[in-house]
Parts: sequence; C-alpha cells; structure tokens
Amino acid sequence: MIEKQLLTFPSNFIWGSATSSYQIEGAATTDGRAWSIWDAHAHTPGRTHNNEHADVGCDHYHRYREDVALMADMGVKAYRFSISWSRIQPDGRGEINAKGIAFYNNLIDELIANGITPWATLYHWDLPLALQTEKDGWLNPEIADFFARYASICFEHFGDRVTHWITLNEPWVVAILGYGEGVFAPGRTSKNEPYLVAHQLLRAHAKAVQCYRQKFQKTQGGTIGITNNCDWREPLTTSRADKDAAERSLEFFLGWFADPIYLGDYPQTMKDRVGDRLPRFSKEDKALLKDSSDFFGLNHYTTLYASDVDPNGEVQNEVYGNGGIFEDQYVQLTADPKWKMTSMNWGIVPWGCRKLLEWIRNRYGNPPIYITENGCALDDRIEDGEIRDPLRQEFLEGYLTACHEAIANGVDLRAYFVWSFMDNFEWALGYSKRFGMHYVDYETLERTPKNSAIWYREVTQNNGFRAADDKEHL
Ligand code: GAL
Repeated sequence: MIEKQLLTFPSNFIWGSATSSYQIEGAATTDGRAWSIWDAHAHTPGRTHNNEHADVGCDHYHRYREDVALMADMGVKAYRFSISWSRIQPDGRGEINAKGIAFYNNLIDELIANGITPWATLYHWDLPLALQTEKDGWLNPEIADFFARYASICFEHFGDRVTHWITLNEPWVVAILGYGEGVFAPGRTSKNEPYLVAHQLLRAHAKAVQCYRQKFQKTQGGTIGITNNCDWREPLTTSRADKDAAERSLEFFLGWFADPIYLGDYPQTMKDRVGDRLPRFSKEDKALLKDSSDFFGLNHYTTLYASDVDPNGEVQNEVYGNGGIFEDQYVQLTADPKWKMTSMNWGIVPWGCRKLLEWIRNRYGNPPIYITENGCALDDRIEDGEIRDPLRQEFLEGYLTACHEAIANGVDLRAYFVWSFMDNFEWALGYSKRFGMHYVDYETLERTPKNSAIWYREVTQNNGFRAADDKEHL
C-alpha cells in the first residue's frame, strides 16, 4: 500500500474557485448590456466550435444565488469572477448602466453573506464592442484612459466590499491568440500587432493601478495586481542551447508582461530579437509600471519541453501555437508522450508547476503569489446523477502537492483558485470542454457537483489533504 502523507497548508492559505463573465453569465443583451468583442466573434460563423456562443452561457446572471450556495457547499473562502465591462459601460467609455452595477452589487452581497470573499477581475477579454469598432480596441493608446475610467467606476461602486482586484486576465492570450493567431476575439492575425497590443495592455493596467492607489486604496484598504499566464518550459536536453531556449521561451511568455512590472522594462532577449517591432516605454510609463502589482497573479496549466532551433534549419514545430511568435524565438516545443493528457491535450505535469513557481521567486524577488487559475478539462459524463472524475482529483492532488513543495522551498504562495467553479463556454472551443468542478447540463442548465468538488470540499475544510507520495519528480 502506498503511504499517504498529510499535506497541510499555511493557516491563512486561500482556497478558491474562478470563472469569468462572458463564459458564464449569459443575459448577453439583458438589462442594458451591450455586446463585447466576444459576442461578435462567437456570432461570426466559423469562429467557434459548432458556432456556439454564450448568449445564455450558464445563465449565471439569473442563477447567481444558486451558484453562490454551491460555492459555499464546496467550502471555498474566495471566489474569483470578472466584471463585464459592457454591462457597466455599454459603449466602453460613456454612460454607466445602473442595472449592471446592481447585478454585481447583488452578487458581491450574496458572496459576503455566504462567507465568501469576492475577488474581482476587471478585464477577462470581453472588450465592449464599440471600443473595437469605433476606437480600434487595444491598438489605440487612448485605451489606457478608457480602461482606467472604467476601473474607477468599479472601485467607486464595489470597492467598499471588494478588496481584491485583478486588472487584467492573461494579457498574453489577448495579444497572441487575439491579434497573432486570430483564434480569439477580435480575430486578427499579425506578427507585429501582438507587441503593440501587449504594450497598451500593460499601460492600461498601470493606469488603473495608479487610479486605485491615488483615490481608493487608502480608504478601501484593498490590494490590486495583474494575472499573467505561463506554462513551464523544461530544457529538452542539458545542452547550453536548450537551456537558453527554455529560458528564452519563458521570457517571451511571462517575462514579456512581468519584467516591466518587477524589473522596469521588457526582457533583453525580446529587445534583441524583436528589435524595432517591440515598442518602447516612455519614462512616465516605466515609472507607472514599476511595482504596479501588489501580488503576482498566475494562471498555470501545463508544461512543454523546449529546444533550440537553428534559424536557418528546417522548422518542425507542431505545438508552437502555444508558444507565441515562433519566428522571434526559434524554440521548438514538444510534449512527452508518457504524460497523461487532459481533453485540451495538455500534459499533466505537476513538477512543472513547482519549477515555474521557483523561477518566479528567483527572478522577481520572492513576491506573494496567487495561483488565480489551475485545473483541467476532461470528458465528463453524468451517470446516475454522479460525475466520476478521478483524473481531475489526481490532477489537483498533483498540482497541489507541487504547490506544497514550492511553499516548503520558500515560495510565498498564498492562494489557489481552481479553474473552474462550473463547466462553461470555453472560448473558441465552445461548450465542448468541461473544466468545471460542477457539471452543467446545457439543456436544463442544472448544476451537479462532480466528485472532485466533493473532494475539494474536504481539502478546503481540512486546509490540506492526504496525498499519495508516488508522484513523478524531476
Ligand atoms: C485560461 C482562461 C480561462 C479558461 C482557461 C482554460 O487561459 O483565463 O478563461 O478558459 O484558460 O482554458
């Protein structure tokens, strides 16, 4: 029999679960909400799996009370949701929609009444469509001011109760998948625009933080930061070239967005390789960006091996879509065929999570880290009212064990949010991927806790779990 070891987390560790507005709310044009770029994208034929959209989504807009009750049953201390900008300001820059404010007020009050701390993300990819069509979206430098204004509306109306703010969710995805590969809204394909868009996203983040710090933080007493996503990159061999390739890949992924905040500018590798196509920060922007995150928000899902590619040689990179602009990096990415895979075809590699946390600790001076997303999609089915998802439990046990090891190694990890509270609209993949701890029947919209949710309840109640010590270590 395998000896099970009790893994207990620090007493103030935050257990949570996460969602985002467009993925769950539905009510796309209810009570004054206007379309976002994701509504338009999903309604463009051929953009999503089976042309699915989230007009109804999980109908969370009407079922939030039931959802909060399910969260409370799961024992989470915190819930990370995002605010739909076009519900608050339908055209992104003008009038405030009182009914939109009322919805989030009700949700926040319901959470607090159930002992759950609200964590609000201001931007999870659903830009008001009018800002795209009339103002050129994230390519327009003016957007930093529009975003700061919207953010200040949120601080003003919700900041008396919301004290955990995340400005942007995964700007890398907006830049690369939205403007590089065009698979996400607004569906543009370019080798240059991702760098321009990333630049404006960073400036917008900094301006929203400046607004919070100048006008709200003292009286409201909250914290504010950004959430970036990053997979781990393990050198394929011990050669210097592969080690450099893995490091380069991480710098193009996470360093792109975190270096300006923690180290004052883009990584040198990016400056060298991207040259004039990489915008430069003004002195003012640099100063605003430096130290503009009170914590390090991290979304992490998987790992790939990285190896060096000869720029003059033949390119055989099947997974470089996951890596950013290949031509600027020349890194080949591969998975290990031995890894168990999720239904996204992402390898389950817990040790990569520990290594990434340690990389962040080393590069950025041991900041407080919140894992604001981690989880897996599986082909879940409901049978006799039950959803048996042992692989999800194994996934979570593995990644939480890695987190525990990282904490033991001095990483200042303070929170863990499972993605996701319930199955939802998985962007271009529509409803075909189920990431939830709760199963959603899209015909009836009924929610059922999966077995992993019942397990997670034990974890949140015991502040830890018994883990089989048979995990692969590297
Ligand atoms: C993240 C994203 C979430 C969710 C998840 C699973 O990148 O923030 O909205 O879709 O991936 O793919």
